[in-house]
Amino acid sequence: MPHTAGVAPSSSVDLFTDAALRDPYPLHDALRATGSVVRLDTYGVWAVTRHRAVESVLRDPTTYRSENGVALTEMANTQILAGTVLASDGEKHAQLRRVLSAQLAPRAIRHLVGTVTDRAQRLVDAALADGGQFDAAELARQMVSDTVMAQMGLEEEAREPLLAGAAPTFDTFGPDNARFQRALPIASQMVEFLHQTITRQSVVPESWMGAIFQAVDDGRLDESDAIPLTSAYTAASMDTTILGITEAIAQLARHPHQWNLLRRNPTRAATPAFHEALRLEAPIQGFGRRAARPTELDGVRIERGEQVWLLYGSAGRDEEFWGPEADAFNILRLRPERHLAFGAGPHLCAGIPLAELQARAVLRALAARCTRLTICREPVRVLNNVLHGWGQLPVAVELGPRGPSVSMNAAEHACERGTAS
Ligand code: HEM
Repeated sequence: MPHTAGVAPSSSVDLFTDAALRDPYPLHDALRATGSVVRLDTYGVWAVTRHRAVESVLRDPTTYRSENGVALTEMANTQILAGTVLASDGEKHAQLRRVLSAQLAPRAIRHLVGTVTDRAQRLVDAALADGGQFDAAELARQMVSDTVMAQMGLEEEAREPLLAGAAPTFDTFGPDNARFQRALPIASQMVEFLHQTITRQSVVPESWMGAIFQAVDDGRLDESDAIPLTSAYTAASMDTTILGITEAIAQLARHPHQWNLLRRNPTRAATPAFHEALRLEAPIQGFGRRAARPTELDGVRIERGEQVWLLYGSAGRDEEFWGPEADAFNILRLRPERHLAFGAGPHLCAGIPLAELQARAVLRALAARCTRLTICREPVRVLNNVLHGWGQLPVAVELGPRGPSVSMNAAEHACERGTAS
């Protein structure tokens, strides 16, 4: 986005007030109109607002570093994120990532299809048993925490502390505001908890955590890297997926014709529907990077040591990339999975196959039972410096005969033909 020579675009917008966290999109629209790279005066960082600019930063890890760059405060970068796969670069990052890849790669996740599908079926049946009303956020929470706990190889008692510590951990990635101050001690306790709970003796050998200790024993990983690496599972895998699945249900409830389209072909439509929800309402709204050298991004000079704040949520609504219907939820959109809600480049989310599998399983189990979803009471937003989505989503359903088949009306046929950009 061009701007007047010598004058970098800037804005006094605060993206971290309660109102902004509830509904960031009007602010994102304003920022995108100002530029693809805009100085946020309140925080002294560069907001990157457009899809292509965000992606170019993510794909240039030599210039834009994750170490000491992902969170907006030095405290979080040094105390919470230090040594994690998320906040490492280069060969160190590759080494840490290799240890995770074997557990999270599509071939490893394929083994879980039966278990995850059965789990979704069971949880959906239980949710619908109670007169057809349920909290979709709670359904997603049970689905994801059951799946992740089963894979991690930790004692059941670890579930609540892990769930309670994950969101505050994400809160600490934001600026030093009241939310950050409240979260910091909880996130620090979470780090402490991981050190105490996850030991060679306490973890099941055939598990995600077991594989980390195996990598230490094989000489593929330093002992001191083991616990920071476990956060790849404990923090990264839970709230993100819970919020993503809940959002997909919210969007499908708000758009009955899209729900009918999905019900008509759940096998094909469930994954695109999940991606379309992530594009529109990224569960992680922003992460940072730090410039390792002076550089230029879309005509804006960025000095060595300055931070960029990548607005994944804004990138998903960028009309330059997604076309004039960028704000619309359309499960037939052409390749919605191009969104940046999972990041891109070397730090692209390692958990995509698992997130997709769980979302698909829940949406398909719902599609087999429910002809209609309706949000029946006011949903409750999660307010977090980084995470975005629904903490409670009360849904009422109309039950139909089991099975995917449903006839489409004319509007849905038109919608199917007219895929967006
Ligand atoms: C809808 C669900 C999810 C969303 C929206 C999401 C989002 C993201 C994003 C945006 C990043 C990139 C961070 C960056 O560029 O700095 C990321 C990285 C990561 N995610 Fe996910 N994630 C999800 C599910 C999962 C799951 C299920 C797991 C694990 C089982 C997982 C594990 C990871 C790991 C380990 C990384 C770090 C990768 C690296 O730094 O190389 N995520 N995720």
